Amino acid sequence: MNDVLLKVEDVRKVFPTHSREVVRAVDGVSLEVRKGETLGLVGETGCGKSTLARCMAHLYDVTSGSVWFDGTEISTLSRKAMRPIRREVQVIFQDPYGSLNPRRRVGSIIGDPFSIHGIASGAERKKKVQELMELVGLNPEHYNRFPAEFSGGQRQRIGVARALALRPKLVICDEPVSALDVSIQAQIINLLADLQREFDLTYVFISHDLSVVRHVSDRIAVMYLGKIAELAPTSELFGQTRHPYTRALLSALPVADPDTADSREQIILGGDIPAATNPPEGCRFHTRCPKSRADCAATEPPLAAVLDDGGEHRTACIHPLTIGEDLSTAVPDLKAS
Ligand SMILES: Nc1ncnc2c1ncn2[C@@H]1O[C@H](COP(=O)(O)OP(=O)(O)OP(=O)(O)O)[C@@H](O)[C@H]1O
Ligand SMILES: [Mg+2]
Repeated sequence: MNDVLLKVEDVRKVFPTHSREVVRAVDGVSLEVRKGETLGLVGETGCGKSTLARCMAHLYDVTSGSVWFDGTEISTLSRKAMRPIRREVQVIFQDPYGSLNPRRRVGSIIGDPFSIHGIASGAERKKKVQELMELVGLNPEHYNRFPAEFSGGQRQRIGVARALALRPKLVICDEPVSALDVSIQAQIINLLADLQREFDLTYVFISHDLSVVRHVSDRIAVMYLGKIAELAPTSELFGQTRHPYTRALLSALPVADPDTADSREQIILGGDIPAATNPPEGCRFHTRCPKSRADCAATEPPLAAVLDDGGEHRTACIHPLTIGEDLSTAVPDLKAS
């Protein structure tokens, strides 16, 4: 398929800890990002979203598996060999302040990529930077200001400008609006949407907030403890939810349409998220799943089409939800039958 821009194949990333255990931050993820789409990535804190994002951009070496960008396997490339691809894959981080050097002027921060890649210098560089500032809604006359002189929303516009400087193909947005006031979030999201149209960008959009992801994504991948629980076109993920974990996330959203009975149930998950050093056997959600059965602890479910779903909708669950099934009254049954 040549409409695939980024392909992630069975990627694992573990981190050492002080003991002999390792944190399995990303534990066997496969997915594709298609040209021009926005793929949303959601899940609770610590489920591995940022680690996966860094593996996608080859900011981390993967522990195993592979990442392909536009037909090239990038996960094994050296820094030098990665350089031309670095231009095409950019990351926008959550904290617009933490990722901007406070002692450097905004003009030089945004202009860095031009210098690093030897594209422009001097007056030429300044002109390009000011064009970018205008593009993202910053006043080009503020070229000489420091990050602290901008508001949170403006600082994220600086981050966006820097990411777009080299006209990337893929932009991985890691919680780009989570640190911002709700009133500012929409402005940045609209900016990203406008830029996507104008420059034919492909996005991976990461958030722990499903309502934000829903708004921007063509497809959504739901992550739990380092793995993908469900992956589907946005409307299907909401209209035909299969994974009990996805349903639980959905049930926590404010109800937009009071006539939708499904979205009215509130599912409170029991227990804490298990440690990523020692994920549960079988389905790793079974310890918190309202629907879990004995076989859930025994078998690790593959991410595959379930029930009558087509290949576009994949779920890692052996007892997926049927349409209209009420999960709020479900009771776990862990006895072997
Ligand atoms: N550099 C690191 N060294 C050790 N452990 C790490 C490192 N980065 C992440 N982890 C661990 O890996 C797991 C996944 O973390 P990650 O930051 O990818 O999650 P996340 O989904 O982005 O969370 P959040 O929503 O809080 O941003 C967590 O258990 C985290 O503590
Ligand atoms: Mg994160």
